Amino acid sequence: MQYHSVLKALLPYLLLSTSLMSALLQAQSLNSAVPVTYQRYCAQCHNEKIDGAPRPHNVGDWATRVEQKTDAQLLNSVKRGLGSMPAGGSCPNCSDQTLSAVIAWMKPRPGDIKQIADKPDLVKNLQRLNIPTGFQISVYADDIEEPRGMALGDDGIVYVGSRKAGKVYAVLPATEDHVERQVKVIARGLHMPHGVVFSDGDLYVAEVSQIIRFRGIDPLRGKSPAAEVVYGGMPKVNHHGWKTLHLGPDDKLYFPVGMPCNTCDYRSSQPLFGSIVRMTKDGKDVEFIAKGIRHSVGFGFHPQTGVMWFSDNGQDFMGDNLPPDEINRLSQAGLDFGFPYFYGNNIPSPGYDRPPKGVTPPVFELPAHVAPLGVHFYRGSMFPKSYRNKLLIAEHGSWNRTSKVGYRISTLNIKNEKASDYKPLINGWLQGESAWGRPVAFLELPDGSLLISDDKADVIYQLRYSPPRADPSL
Ligand code: HEC
Repeated sequence: MQYHSVLKALLPYLLLSTSLMSALLQAQSLNSAVPVTYQRYCAQCHNEKIDGAPRPHNVGDWATRVEQKTDAQLLNSVKRGLGSMPAGGSCPNCSDQTLSAVIAWMKPRPGDIKQIADKPDLVKNLQRLNIPTGFQISVYADDIEEPRGMALGDDGIVYVGSRKAGKVYAVLPATEDHVERQVKVIARGLHMPHGVVFSDGDLYVAEVSQIIRFRGIDPLRGKSPAAEVVYGGMPKVNHHGWKTLHLGPDDKLYFPVGMPCNTCDYRSSQPLFGSIVRMTKDGKDVEFIAKGIRHSVGFGFHPQTGVMWFSDNGQDFMGDNLPPDEINRLSQAGLDFGFPYFYGNNIPSPGYDRPPKGVTPPVFELPAHVAPLGVHFYRGSMFPKSYRNKLLIAEHGSWNRTSKVGYRISTLNIKNEKASDYKPLINGWLQGESAWGRPVAFLELPDGSLLISDDKADVIYQLRYSPPRADPSL
C-alpha cells in the first residue's frame, strides 16, 4: 500500500521528466542547423511573427528592412530594442559578434530579396501560401517564362526547361562578383523543352520529338556548346508531347511519351504513345518499359528500392469527379497501366471493348482533375524526420472543373508498396476560383531545401525548414 502511494506521489515528476527529456531530444535534433542563441532568445517572437517580428529567411518579412538598413543599423536595433523587442533581443549579455551572426542567419539570402523587391504583388501572394509551422518559402528565381523541369548542375547552377518560351535557363548562384542570383538563357528556339537532366558535365533536354545534349556546358565560364541529338524519331505531336526527363538509379535516361489526345487508342498502330522509355545517355538500348499511360508529367525513384513511381493525369469530360488522377508504381519493366481501356482502379472506360488482360491498377487514386505533375521522394535532412521518403506531389490544378481543385503541394506516406495519408503540405495558390500560381516540378538541393517551379507565377520557390518555437520549459 505504502509502496503504491509513493509511486503515486512520484508519478507526476516521472511524467514531467520524460516529457522534458523528449522535448530536449526533439529540440536537439531539430536544432543542428540553427544558431543556439536564436533558438533560445529570438525564436519565441520571430518564428511566430509576433508584433511583426520578421520570420527567419522569409523574403516578404525582410524585404524592406534589408533594402533600407545596413547590417550595423540592424544590429543597433537589436541592441537598443525596437517596438516590442527588448534590448539585446532579450539577451542582454550577447556580444555584438553573436548578435550579428544570428541576424546574418535570420536574413534571407541576398538573391532572394532583390529579385522581388519590385514585385509587391508577388510578395503579397507569397504570404497567402499556407505552410506548416517551421517551413519558410521564398522566391529562388523569377523572370523565367513558364519554368517546368529543373536539374542541378555543377557549381550550384540550376537548369530550367521553359516549355512555352522554347528556352532553357540557367540560374547562376550568387557569388562574390555578382551578389545576386542571375538568370541566363542558355538555349532558345527549342520545341517545348520541359525535362532537363545534368550528368557528368553534360546537359540533356527533352523536346517533343527528340532528346538533345549540350556537352561540357559551363555557363559560369561562358561555355555554351551546340546541341547534339542523342535520340530522335519520336512523334512530333504537341498534344501531351512535352516530356519529363530524369536519370534513373541505373544512370539511364527515362521519359514518358504521352497520348496525343484526350482519349484514344494507338496500342496496335503506334505503341510508342502512352509508354515510358528508358535508354542509355547515348541514346542506345532503347526499351519501352511501361504502357497504357495517358500522360505522366512526373516520376521519381524510391530512395531505398529504386522503384519508379509516376503520376498520371486522368482524362477530361467524364464530369467533375471522374476519373481519379493516379499515382502508379512500376515494380518491373513491361507493365500495362490500362489506358484507354481502364481508368482508376481498373474500371472499364466507356467506349472501349475487348480490354487487355493483366492490367496494373494505380497505387493511389487522387481526386479527379487535381492534375498531379511533378512527384519527388524527399531525401534530405533539413525537413523533419517524418518527411524522409515521403512522396511530394505538385498538383497543377484543374482547368475545366466546375469548381477548381488542386493548385497545391500534397504528400503521401510510402511504405513498401503502399501509399497512404494523403495530405496537403502547401496551398493558397488558389484563392476562391482564381489561381495566381500553379506548381509543376521539384528539385531537392544538397542542403535539403526544395525548389518548386511554378509556370503561372513564373517563379521558382525555395522551401526551407527551421524548427518551430522553442519549448517554453527549456
Ligand atoms: C519579445 C519578442 C522579440 C524577441 C525576443 C526578439 N525580437 Fe527581434 N524583433 C521583434 C519585433 C516585434 C520586431 C519588429 C519591430 C518593429 O519593426 O517595430 C523585431 C525586429 C528585429 C530585427 C529587425 C530590426 C530592424 O531594424 O528592422 C532584427 C534584426 C531582430 N529583430 C533580431 C532579433 C534577434 C537577433 C533576437 C534574439 C537575440 C531577437 N530579435 C529577439 C521581436 C522580438
